[in-house]
Amino acid sequence: MRKKLFRFAENAKRANIIEPGKPFYDKIKGNWNQLYFKNERPITVELGCGDGEYSVGLAEVNDERNYIGVDIKGDRLYQGSTQAIENQLGHVAFLRTKVHQIENFFEEGEIDEFWLTFPDPRPKDRDEKRRLSHPRFLNVYRKLCVPGGWFKFKTDNTPLFDYTLEVLASEFPVEDLVFTHDLYNDPELMKDHHGIKTKYEKIWTDKGEKIKYMKFRFNS
Ligand SMILES: C[S@@+](CC[C@H](N)C(=O)[O-])C[C@H]1O[C@@H](n2cnc3c(N)ncnc32)[C@H](O)[C@@H]1O
Repeated sequence: MRKKLFRFAENAKRANIIEPGKPFYDKIKGNWNQLYFKNERPITVELGCGDGEYSVGLAEVNDERNYIGVDIKGDRLYQGSTQAIENQLGHVAFLRTKVHQIENFFEEGEIDEFWLTFPDPRPKDRDEKRRLSHPRFLNVYRKLCVPGGWFKFKTDNTPLFDYTLEVLASEFPVEDLVFTHDLYNDPELMKDHHGIKTKYEKIWTDKGEKIKYMKFRFNS
């Protein structure tokens, strides 16, 4: 608990974590590039970023985009924020909010690309609506994304992955869908991996689980 409190206090002082009480918190919607990044690069958002390995890792290999990791847990965001500061990555920021509230922080068409990395699988039927790939979330992501923007999704969890494929097939048509149930044995899709293993990806690959990956473009 003391570690968490220390991290929360640190987060409050950090410019690269947008959370309640920060100067831009109420003004950032539609203004990420103008107010925070001070450039016009396309924005990639990582949903449920946890320790932020993907946001930081992608920023390390690409300084042509801006990256924003979103998570509800401040102690996890502290980790990504620390990495971004230590590696002098000014084009990475973190937003502490529930994904449910994301429309309060982004304008329609403000996001160029999404990553959903190892979301909680929510296996119970009664929790279906809380899955971050449920159509109610996909509709919001589509609204906030530029027309034709990419959505990229990695998970260890086969039921969640297959559930998402079913949603796309039955009620949420998308373009250019490609997927694999074994990312590490798919040389073409592995190009999107960039050698970045998130904390949960490491946990599951160490247990011998295959990583599933899909990407698609939102219909305009
Ligand atoms: C299984 S962890 C994966 C973390 C990281 N992406 C990884 O691959 O290591 C799921 C993360 O999603 C976050 N999360 C779950 N539901 C969320 C929601 N509705 N809004 C924001 N964050 C959420 C949790 O706090 C947690 O950090």
